[in-house]
Amino acid sequence: MASDILFTPYSLKGLDLPNRIVMAPMTRSFSPGGVATEEVAAYYRRRAENQVGLIITEGTGVNRPASVNDPNVPRFHGDAELAAWKKVVDEVHAVGGKIAPQLWHVGAVRTRSETWSPPGPYDSPSGLSRPGKAFGAPMTDAEVADAIRAFADAAAAAKAIGFDAIELHGAHGYLIDQFFWDGTNVREDAYGGKDLPGRARFAADILREVRKAVGPDYPVIIRVSQWKQQDYEVKLAKDPKALEAWMGALVDAGADCIHCSQRRFWEPEFEGSDLNFAGWTKKLTGVPTITVGSVGLSGEFIAAWGGELSQPASLDRLEAMLERGDFDLVGVGRALLQDPEWVVKVREGRHDELKAYDRSALATLY
Ligand code: PHB
Repeated sequence: MASDILFTPYSLKGLDLPNRIVMAPMTRSFSPGGVATEEVAAYYRRRAENQVGLIITEGTGVNRPASVNDPNVPRFHGDAELAAWKKVVDEVHAVGGKIAPQLWHVGAVRTRSETWSPPGPYDSPSGLSRPGKAFGAPMTDAEVADAIRAFADAAAAAKAIGFDAIELHGAHGYLIDQFFWDGTNVREDAYGGKDLPGRARFAADILREVRKAVGPDYPVIIRVSQWKQQDYEVKLAKDPKALEAWMGALVDAGADCIHCSQRRFWEPEFEGSDLNFAGWTKKLTGVPTITVGSVGLSGEFIAAWGGELSQPASLDRLEAMLERGDFDLVGVGRALLQDPEWVVKVREGRHDELKAYDRSALATLY
């Protein structure tokens, strides 16, 4: 049986959640022309109906020409795009769910389509897609300001159409993370610099503008990771002191909750303690954190992209960490992509009905 802790309610800045389970954002690319379809709404509704505490949507592009790398990723600006998202929100709310969009800008990364390219130039801090690899031009001051505005506009739109919170995608080597990373941010202006708080200025400015747009009471989450899709071994913060300075800059700028992405949640972040990334971040900042990374599965997601099956795995360790207060909420990705009923099955102890994750699940939107 699942211990009770996963199924205790939690209030994130006044947003009442029935349990600690968060559907992690996962790119699905089922929104032709950037407009989420009825099937997308049904996909999220199905998870809400089956007791997911908080849904964080797939990344959705803010209003910059090259914010997405795939024409089938939903966009978060424009009348048709936002009307489609409102339909998603209404469907989720109709069955009692809660939902936040993940606001995304991919920055300098290749497109995923051979026949499509974005309608305008790539944005990035220094025209690098990875250390030493030129890709597009560094953003001008005006482009930086416009990107900050784009995130704030998206947050305002999210609130206006009824989303319960927003998440900024600041992880995995996409635009905001390209600013954090000294390998891709070699600017010498106020958005660059040798230390993490300096390179966090772009994220902090976004957070401050988002806060102005949504007001003091609306939950604002930011997702961060040490690892990059360009390099899985990077650790931006090599010790707790560096992590405190980095996360402190985000909290000071208005983040209410930090979503700490790891490939495997059970791995300690620094030597000498078994706290993971979310555990350290909560300890150092005092703000609520979400852990994520292979929850409920035996194998991590990079290997899964390569075709490796991930088997259902015990939640004992996760529950012990949650019970100890290491973090507040738990992101579940692939297990929920594979099986919309995952939460109900865990709650009811139906462990023999839990499914292995197979990347073929990506081909359909059930
Ligand atoms: C992906 O589409 O595979 C993807 C997108 C965003 C992430 C990670 C992976 O943060």
